[in-house]
Amino acid sequence: MKRFYLIIALMFMLLGTSVADEGMWLPALIQKLNITEMQQMGCELSAEDIYSINNSSLKDAVVALDRGSCTAELISKDGLLLTNHHCGFGEIQGHSSVDHDYLKEGFWAKSRDEELPNPGKTVSFLIRVEDVTAKVLENVTEQMSYDERGAEVAKISRQISDKAIEGTKYDARVQSLFNDNKYYLFVYETFRDVRLVGAPPVAIGKFGGDTDNWMWPRQTGDFSIFRVYCGPDGNPAEYSEDNVPLHPKHFLPVSIKGEKMGDFAMILGYPGSTNRYKTSFGVDYTMEVTNPVRVQVRGAKLAIIDEYMNTSPKARIQYASKYAGSSNYYKFSIGQNKGLTDLDVIAKKKAIEDEFTKWANANPERKAKYGKALELIQKGYADVSSNIAREYMSESMIKGPEIFMFANRFSAIERLMENDSGNNDRSERMIERLKGSLDGFFKDYDAETDRKIVAALLKIYHDNVKAEFYPAVFDEVQKKFKGDFNKFSEKLFAKTIFTDQSRLEEFLSNPDMKILKKDMVWQATKSIFDKYREITDKSNETAPYLNEGRRLFLAGLMEMNKNREFYPDANSTMRLTYGKVLDYVPRDGVLYEYFTTTKGYLEKEIPGDDEFDVPPRMKELILDKDYGRYADADGSLHTCFLTNNDITGGNSGSPVINGKGELIGIAFDGNWEAMSGDLAFEPDLQRCINVDIRFVLWIIDKYAGATNLIDEMTIVE
Ligand code: ARG
Repeated sequence: MKRFYLIIALMFMLLGTSVADEGMWLPALIQKLNITEMQQMGCELSAEDIYSINNSSLKDAVVALDRGSCTAELISKDGLLLTNHHCGFGEIQGHSSVDHDYLKEGFWAKSRDEELPNPGKTVSFLIRVEDVTAKVLENVTEQMSYDERGAEVAKISRQISDKAIEGTKYDARVQSLFNDNKYYLFVYETFRDVRLVGAPPVAIGKFGGDTDNWMWPRQTGDFSIFRVYCGPDGNPAEYSEDNVPLHPKHFLPVSIKGEKMGDFAMILGYPGSTNRYKTSFGVDYTMEVTNPVRVQVRGAKLAIIDEYMNTSPKARIQYASKYAGSSNYYKFSIGQNKGLTDLDVIAKKKAIEDEFTKWANANPERKAKYGKALELIQKGYADVSSNIAREYMSESMIKGPEIFMFANRFSAIERLMENDSGNNDRSERMIERLKGSLDGFFKDYDAETDRKIVAALLKIYHDNVKAEFYPAVFDEVQKKFKGDFNKFSEKLFAKTIFTDQSRLEEFLSNPDMKILKKDMVWQATKSIFDKYREITDKSNETAPYLNEGRRLFLAGLMEMNKNREFYPDANSTMRLTYGKVLDYVPRDGVLYEYFTTTKGYLEKEIPGDDEFDVPPRMKELILDKDYGRYADADGSLHTCFLTNNDITGGNSGSPVINGKGELIGIAFDGNWEAMSGDLAFEPDLQRCINVDIRFVLWIIDKYAGATNLIDEMTIVE
């Protein structure tokens, strides 16, 4: 018996063990790197079916939302677009008021003219990808300094992207991959009229709230629906009543056959950022600085917002999206540190570094080329005091309170007026844009809440950062307010036009720099942003060591492991990950099933709770067991399922696709036990959490009665 297993194990070793789960692959390269393995695993498509620049292919049905903050997929010939509820959250919240609370009630456009426009929201289709490394590095030499190399790369990259879009309606970017060892050109077509079509209530779309966020088991219906519009000529256009639904080159058929354990599953999407080749020094910095700073500052901020949100339905709507935006990575940072500790990631990184050093030192040529890589990185982390200040300042002043960032928008006016280049058109346009943004800002702004945030967060900065990094305004807090940030904030908010929409409108109608110059918020903003620039410059002084070291380290790793296929870290470009439907063992003696059902949704019910309330209609439908054609073979309605696909933030909303190219789910989260995954993939533990497409369709069909949308889709039974 044992012998038999040994032989099987040996066979696997000879065939090359499958690394399918780990890896965010460039779709343009799967023909070369992955398709054989994918087909062995159950994929029935060819590489050309997935990524083609001549014919329509799967990639044409997958788009970047807002340049990659999320992913979405086309599911009808009329531009119907599916993504996560948390990806449409800002829009759903933005359209909500106490009278039309789409967060609480959900929203369903009954006809196309009820679909809601969202100025600023974009959808980008990938047109093509090209390896331009040779061109970009043509004139780069070993002798160049870090800055010279950077300037040359930037110059050629711009030439390449400009040339790529000449005479087209496209936009393009050259991006570095493999830590500046490779460069690729990405060409996109970006549409700017994206309308909200449907969203379930938060009690479905965000069921489980922050408690369940980043965790399995999950029963969340995390989806929302948009539609892409274009000009009558089919080209991208700003919102207009004359626009028409886009007819995409490809859209995904939807399979309601259901998935089982071990089934092939792949995901195309826009993962934002990973650092899988990060060294132990970098992991240490993440654990000691980035995560604790974020947790400390956001913890204080979230408590203040939470208090305000509990005061009224209006307050709840106003701050729902701001709260969610801050809490998601607050919890992430807690989980990431736990994961990095539990899984001993630093030791794993160190082992790789030791092996690398041995390899590099084994011959003089290598030693000359790669010998200094790790030293450079270590040097880059030697003095991190300005980096700590930068992280604190970013969290506590730039992104923490809203008032400073808001006031800073007005510096553009100042610059224009002071240089007075006679360019009246530009100032007019800028002033109009600012005026146009005021309604949106003040709809969701509570000055007293922001004041409390200022008081608390500036104090945290003061208490945790060296005095040399204080902005000038801290002197005033010391002198005039005896270091009392609360008193200071009271005065600050009393003496400003920036909390008062009508006074700002008045100012914009007749901009007078004198008014700004004596405004306390304006003065504080200046001093904060001046210091932020100074700190950023200082912390950037280590960039040459770090980036040069990282480039060499990865180049060396790749040379050292010649037979291993490497994939580039995520950088908000389209990637493919493939694997299978799979359960996992989160801890000793516990097995987590690969799927959940509506039974779990009811089990978690806490009536009246923010996170676990179940709408009466949902309960009724579930108790009726009216699942129709959306029921699983086992008779239940599956809500979510797991795959071992490799995703990260930015992948939210990505289609989970079966071996036939049909949509079976939407990716929406990762799991708690492997939150360290962005820095080191954990094959045994890391799972991708997806909402089952049958749950989505059932909600649209039975809960919302939006059969018009179901009729638009191509459903495979
Ligand atoms: N953790 C998810 C992500 O980053 C977001 C989930 C949103 N849901 C929530 N309950 N906050 O993609």
